Amino acid sequence: MNNLHLPQNLFTMKKNLLLLACIFLAMKIMAQDISIIPQPVEMQRQTGVFTLNATMAIAVKNNDAASERVGSFFAAKIAPATGMLLPTSWGIKDKQREINFFINQTPNAVIGNEGYTLDVTPKRVILTANTEGGLFYGAQTLLQLLPKEIGNQTVTTAKWEIPCVKIVDYPRFPWRGLMLDVSRHFFPKEDVKRYIDNMAKFKYNTFHWHLTDDQGWRIEIKSLPKLTEIGAFRVPRFGKWGQLEAPKEGEKATDGGFYTQNDIKEIVAYAAERHVTVLPEIDVPGHSMAAIAAYPEMCVTKDPKITVSPGHKFSEWYGNGKFKMLIDNSLNPSDEAVYTFLDKVFGEVATLFPHPYIHIGGDECYHGYWAKDSNCVALMQKEGLKNTEELQSYFIKRLEKILKKHGKKLIGWDEILEGGLAPEASVMSWRGYEGGIQAAKQGHYVVMTPNDYVYIDLLQGEKAAEPDATDYKKVTLRKAYDFEPVPDSIDAKYILGGQANLWTEKVPTMRHAEYMTYPRAWALSDVYWSPKGSKNWDNFIVRMEKHMGRADVAEMNYARSAFDAIVKTTLTEGKLMAEITTEIAGLDIYYTLNETTPDKWTPQYKTPFEVPEGPVSLKVITYRGGKPVGKMVVLPRETLLKRATK
Ligand code: ACM
Repeated sequence: MNNLHLPQNLFTMKKNLLLLACIFLAMKIMAQDISIIPQPVEMQRQTGVFTLNATMAIAVKNNDAASERVGSFFAAKIAPATGMLLPTSWGIKDKQREINFFINQTPNAVIGNEGYTLDVTPKRVILTANTEGGLFYGAQTLLQLLPKEIGNQTVTTAKWEIPCVKIVDYPRFPWRGLMLDVSRHFFPKEDVKRYIDNMAKFKYNTFHWHLTDDQGWRIEIKSLPKLTEIGAFRVPRFGKWGQLEAPKEGEKATDGGFYTQNDIKEIVAYAAERHVTVLPEIDVPGHSMAAIAAYPEMCVTKDPKITVSPGHKFSEWYGNGKFKMLIDNSLNPSDEAVYTFLDKVFGEVATLFPHPYIHIGGDECYHGYWAKDSNCVALMQKEGLKNTEELQSYFIKRLEKILKKHGKKLIGWDEILEGGLAPEASVMSWRGYEGGIQAAKQGHYVVMTPNDYVYIDLLQGEKAAEPDATDYKKVTLRKAYDFEPVPDSIDAKYILGGQANLWTEKVPTMRHAEYMTYPRAWALSDVYWSPKGSKNWDNFIVRMEKHMGRADVAEMNYARSAFDAIVKTTLTEGKLMAEITTEIAGLDIYYTLNETTPDKWTPQYKTPFEVPEGPVSLKVITYRGGKPVGKMVVLPRETLLKRATK
């Protein structure tokens, strides 16, 4: 190298570096205006924007009802905010109009049944898919590319621009579910629709509707009217679930509700417009107190005093999954009348829901009353059943035949493995991965919903700063994001996908259901839709915060718990040490130990410190960029001491 040229080379290098830095910065700025959840498979930001205007039409192919439906759905979604009423029109020439929604004439093998391609240039938008479902998901992406103000209110200040982008996108799993329990708390029809509308925005396609349980039977069965006349109502109680008073004799059951068959048809149609299929769950043979309150002859004790539970305690739990039901809430597997009852119930359910499966529950069924019942014992002897697990399996296998007669496949919680799986049953694995692994190894299909990762009724942050929630475990946002539905040991083809499950003992309103669901269901939509290798926590957090802004405009609730401090304590040589972390990077943590409120003028946390003895409380808050971002967490010393690990 000639030394004389060095200054010149340095100069050019500097210039090039500067140029590169500018390009990176520009790319970063451009990429920042795009935040899609779930993360698309392939996406390249292009320069420029496409600007919507009221003279445009959404072009669809001649006589193509499917793309016309999606085009109209999109037009209806953007109309309130933009004031633009874009008509759908038949394409003059393929993809020559400003906005084009087309179903491929020759299917694109890469994107499959639910995928789409989206090409936005300053001149036009071209959305293509092999199916109506794929176009619908493309339209959801397009909506997320529009400014956050794209909601139900008229907005005059936003610029209706779509950043130019090329996207190729398709899901990892065919089953992407959310479960809502409407038994523990009843949610009116409009709430259920709202839940479905929100889930569709994040490309969920399965709404698992937990319609029956001990605390309420919520679906009209015309041939068994008492199921809803009696089973849908309980005595009113307020306060902490599990501590509520038992029904008193003669007390009126005034609290509850149910969906008529017309309501169900309306909701199923509403979901179908959003490419969501509804999976009904009728939980048998356990969790059946509401049905038994209506028809006490369906259980072995035939106790006419059994009522719908108002959320009082009627079971004892001993750990290791062992429990006792103090009130009989299981259907009688030895009674032929029970199978006639099931035939009526599932026959009517089958006609209402187009989903190929019906979920039959099968979880947490107490066998204690069966074991003492002479008819159950006689049936076990006659059928050569060695234990009550095999008796339950006998019940499930008969139910599978009933479902088959009505054209449906059976799916149940993983307890249906005990005593032998029904021949064609699929399994929803909830107690962990184990049930799913066993089922897949036996060649059965599985939906993975292990409670450690996807039970969104569980606490999502520091208990002291959260509303009352189920708390036998915690599912933080990071935990949900880290969920991997396919264990290494099995053939991935048996894993249909996963779900997030919302049990509603402690969820009395839709507003709170949203708080429990989001942002964990955003994290899980990445898990169920995006490629396995594409996970990036920090990137998810950036997208999540953008979506919080969108949710604010849409008046949709969500939790900010992931911004809160996590306090861990240890007791070392008699010293109580506190370590404070956050799941989200880049937050500043401030605390006090002197009963004042922490803020950015109180000590900033740097390293673990000793919590002094005395009537002390640790108060912590998180900040970012000089602004508070988390809730204040207050932990008295006794609590910290109780939680301390040694
Ligand atoms: C369940 O959580 N009992 C399925």
